[in-house]
Amino acid sequence: DKKKLWGGRFTGKIDPVMEKFNASIHYDKRMWKADIMGSQAYVKTIQKVGLVNEAEMNLILDGLEKISLEWSAGEFQLKPEDEDIHTANERRLKELIGPVGGKLHTGRSRNDQVATDMRLWLRDALDELKGNITGFLRVMIDRAREEIECLMPGYTHMQRAQPIRWSHWLLSYAWMLKRDLERLSGVIKRVNICPLGSGALAGNPFGVDRTQLAKDMFFSDATGNSLDAVSDRDFVVEFLMWGTLISTHLSRWAEDLIIYSTKEFGFVTLSDAYSTGSSLMPQKKNSDSLELIRGKTGRVFGRCCGFVMTLKGIPSTYNKDLQEDKEAMFDVYDTLLSVLQVATGVISTLQIHPDKMMGALSPDMLATDVAYYLVQKGIPFREAHGLSGQCVALAEKNGCQLPELTLQDLKSVSPLFDEDISSVWNYEHSVERYSVYGGTGKPSILKQIENLQSYLAQE
Ligand code: ARG
Repeated sequence: DKKKLWGGRFTGKIDPVMEKFNASIHYDKRMWKADIMGSQAYVKTIQKVGLVNEAEMNLILDGLEKISLEWSAGEFQLKPEDEDIHTANERRLKELIGPVGGKLHTGRSRNDQVATDMRLWLRDALDELKGNITGFLRVMIDRAREEIECLMPGYTHMQRAQPIRWSHWLLSYAWMLKRDLERLSGVIKRVNICPLGSGALAGNPFGVDRTQLAKDMFFSDATGNSLDAVSDRDFVVEFLMWGTLISTHLSRWAEDLIIYSTKEFGFVTLSDAYSTGSSLMPQKKNSDSLELIRGKTGRVFGRCCGFVMTLKGIPSTYNKDLQEDKEAMFDVYDTLLSVLQVATGVISTLQIHPDKMMGALSPDMLATDVAYYLVQKGIPFREAHGLSGQCVALAEKNGCQLPELTLQDLKSVSPLFDEDISSVWNYEHSVERYSVYGGTGKPSILKQIENLQSYLAQE
């Protein structure tokens, strides 16, 4: 296996099964651009310390440029011995410019190289996800503003609880995703550190300027310890954990909409563009888009869980187990990207049925407001709660709704009930009592929209 990058000390041939088992090229070729960017920066750095002269550097840069063009044109020819993207690009470089290509790797190892490539790749990928989250949020926030008049039942334990604004429901998820954006900024900060110049494990013996190297690739800093740097995959784990959490939010969002779109609820109708039918039952329209969003969460967490398990027993510095990082990272990225695109499509085309939402409100949902009515007449809340409960029981006994109780009925529960109780029998009124910061009243909704928008504007 003299052809291999590491073939010098080998006399025997690799088992073809092992060769396939060992290779990562079929998925890590996705990082070709990052790999070339890393090499471009590295050759400039080693030129400064005299490891290559200017002519050699330019030759290498030209070669790298050609390889880059081949990749973008889809013309790069993989060879069976190309183990991974780093080996493939270096093999091609030597084919194009001859043995001088072999100088590029001086002082570098695939260990610091792969860690650098992954950070470069993930940095762009996270930027793409960020744009998609922002797009989703804008649609959610726009709807919240446009549909602010629409009331619906709010639920706890899936039981009708209190009337809320539909916008309040929309914005509840916007706040979750805002936190995801904030957490993402933290992840990006730690992704954006440069491990190149750490070598295989001990560092770089040629005095390369790692700070400059980091700057050349727009990293904010260079890693501080070479042993750590070559095997640190915390940035991947953080991404996977972050992905698990945002998936969880979108899964709950999807679950709510699945429920709201059933005939039993009828609050919303999913566009045909995001639904599918049944091969057997002609009447069916299923919310497959939302179910897949919910389902993918298991996949994302599975990737996260699996990779953390891979890491837990690894001894110090680089071990090949780490090659498992890439499929987890790519798959979670691909999954999240499509989840966000579909979620944005669903919410952009969703039809709402305000009449159905309002129709699902029932007067018993005003029982809390009845208690507050008594509180305002000076009764301690605990007692007021009990008295309101008695009104509910009385209505149930009389086979009527709360507002249908006569003033006499109400006075039999508490003499403090008066004509002004009629103002409580109004859902709009009820909702507007909750205008405190963070509540479901209109002023709060408008404030929420303002806060979320100014967050997005400074992002
Ligand atoms: N393909 C390898 C990976 O993804 C590159 C690093 C290989 N390093 C090594 N010492 N074998 O991790």
